[in-house]
Amino acid sequence: MDKINERIIVALDYSNFSDMENLVNRIGDIGVFYKVGLELYSSCGEKALNFLKEKNKKIFLDLKFHDIPNTVAKAVKNIAHYGVEITNLHASGGYEMMKAAQEALISEAKTTKLIAVTILTSLNDVSLKEIGYERNLLEQVTILAKLAERAGLAGVVCSPLEAAAIKVSTSQGFLTVTPGIRFEIDSKDDQKRTLHPLEALNGASDYIVIGRSITGAIDPVAVFEKIILAEKEF
Ligand code: C5P
Repeated sequence: MDKINERIIVALDYSNFSDMENLVNRIGDIGVFYKVGLELYSSCGEKALNFLKEKNKKIFLDLKFHDIPNTVAKAVKNIAHYGVEITNLHASGGYEMMKAAQEALISEAKTTKLIAVTILTSLNDVSLKEIGYERNLLEQVTILAKLAERAGLAGVVCSPLEAAAIKVSTSQGFLTVTPGIRFEIDSKDDQKRTLHPLEALNGASDYIVIGRSITGAIDPVAVFEKIILAEKEF
């Protein structure tokens, strides 16, 4: 298993290059893995990716594709050339879409891992009913995780609250990447299914994705170190 700091993916949710650059430089060597999502990508995507690569950082490119199989497969094929560690799509795009995207990645012979978003951590059982899903959250997440595994994907994005159930229903090595991370004192913001970073890391999360608890902190480095040091005491 990777070292604890290598399992913490900091979400670089900024709308400009310099804020992102400042945070990465401030965190320094302990920060190994960073997530580039829609906000940063739509503002300075390739520049941000190049900066992170020059610094030898691992990248999770979180663009959450959701389109027809041909379109997603072509987009994933393009992404393969960025050399990122992880990229993703929505499992609800269906088996054929996931399979086409995974095959596109394999055809490029790249090591990028493709993972699937199950159900966004900003949704709960009530929001799921609103969009017409009849099953409860855990059942729905499990169905999508198993479908992603059948399509050959490397893992899923899920809430840390569901990671253990996914580990039970899927094969060994199927990755759980979990946003929805909050300390007790943090505001939940738009997240609904959250867990403390250490509970997630000591539980069934292979990687945690942590954004505002670090990027919004007065001392982001102290927050990062707090997780690492507390883990050592566990
Ligand atoms: O600030 P916070 O820690 O809530 O950030 C979570 C990050 O994880 C955001 O960049 C968000 O886009 C991403 N994410 C998520 N839920 C998912 C997939 C990704 O919150 N299911």
